[in-house]
Amino acid sequence: MRIAIASDHGGVEAKSSLIRFLKDQGHEALDMGTHNSESCDYPDYASAVAKAVQGDADYGVLVCGTGIGMAMTANRFAGVRAAVIADAFSASMCREHNNANVICFGARLLAVPAMERFLDVFLKTSFAGGRHEGRVAKINSYD
Ligand code: RB5
Repeated sequence: MRIAIASDHGGVEAKSSLIRFLKDQGHEALDMGTHNSESCDYPDYASAVAKAVQGDADYGVLVCGTGIGMAMTANRFAGVRAAVIADAFSASMCREHNNANVICFGARLLAVPAMERFLDVFLKTSFAGGRHEGRVAKINSYD
């Protein structure tokens, strides 16, 4: 799969690890920055990934201190459904029920192995459709 990934300064180290993880799993990782630990503004990076997901990326991955600012920003973009994830159950449910297409992590909360585990669950879980189709369509109707 084609996966757009970005972070702010707080998530830049985790991002490098997640890019390696994605490549090891056979995915294409589009690194949209940031590329160093200099303080920067997370909306710049969340918007880049959101636009990639509106385009030809299958999914997006965003890492900041908490994941929250990234998700708030990404969810402003039509068709983008970003979820802050800190456990495997939510990683599965946000795909199965909400058809999330962007996963956001907090580097101040989670170690890289946990992010990798949740990302793996996220990428391997399909949208259930059925009764959830209409609910997701209602989310999209507010775009
Ligand atoms: C940066 O200090 C911090 O605000 C950012 O990484 C993130 O946690 C925002 O939601």
